[in-house]
Amino acid sequence: MDAIKDTSKKETYKMFDLIASRYDVLNRILSFGIDKWWRYRLGRQLPKVPHLTVLDIATGTGDVGLSFLKHQGNSIDKIVGVDLSQEMLAKAQEKIAKIEKMVVKVGDATELPIDDNSFDATAIAFGIRNVPDVAKALSEMCRVLKPGGVSLVLEFSMPRFFLVRWVYLAYFRYILPTVGGLISGNKGAYSYLNKSVEAFPDGDAFAALMRAAGFESVRLTSLSFGIATIYRGEKRA
Ligand SMILES: C[S@@+](CC[C@H](N)C(=O)[O-])C[C@H]1O[C@@H](n2cnc3c(N)ncnc32)[C@H](O)[C@@H]1O
Repeated sequence: MDAIKDTSKKETYKMFDLIASRYDVLNRILSFGIDKWWRYRLGRQLPKVPHLTVLDIATGTGDVGLSFLKHQGNSIDKIVGVDLSQEMLAKAQEKIAKIEKMVVKVGDATELPIDDNSFDATAIAFGIRNVPDVAKALSEMCRVLKPGGVSLVLEFSMPRFFLVRWVYLAYFRYILPTVGGLISGNKGAYSYLNKSVEAFPDGDAFAALMRAAGFESVRLTSLSFGIATIYRGEKRA
């Protein structure tokens, strides 16, 4: 068992069912609001063409799709969000009730209920770390893309500069589980967060996984001193 293939992660979505009602507020508090900026930066890497169709995988409460629509809405025709957590999807559904361009449905990142070659872009934010088979999820992201389409992954990463890394690890190991546990009532979920982040491949190691899944022109954008990274890959045209 390793961070890339870990069958114990088959049920991580159930943990999100338990914290769904507090997820958004905790994201804002625990990230000091930076998570919004990261999703904005993610959207800036969408293809610059009109009439985009986007699949947001592990959509959770829908914030990635909503951010894309807020900042790139004019060039987007449709966003479909998929997730396994019914409770997270219910929260997303409340938020998109009046938004015609976005829909959400149940779907597993490792077995997407989506036809081949059907979206211009796929995205997954803070989700790839939670799936039981990362290689399978990445190849699914590639499969459902139209030729020439773009996949975006946003995930926590380990800062390279030792001082930033030290503060980051202290925050993730001690402050985040305590504050997250108190507000959500589920300390386990926020201890899981720090363990899963520390064990997960980042930087060039993750880029290599994307290439192995079939992506070309893979590039990385480091955010906020390397606390998070955007990975962008293209499907052969
Ligand atoms: C940290 S949340 C991220 C939500 C959202 N993308 C965001 O940026 O806020 C991770 C999400 O991954 C979902 N998830 C976990 N395993 C999954 C799987 N195999 N397929 C689809 N979604 C999954 C969880 O239910 C949860 O909503």
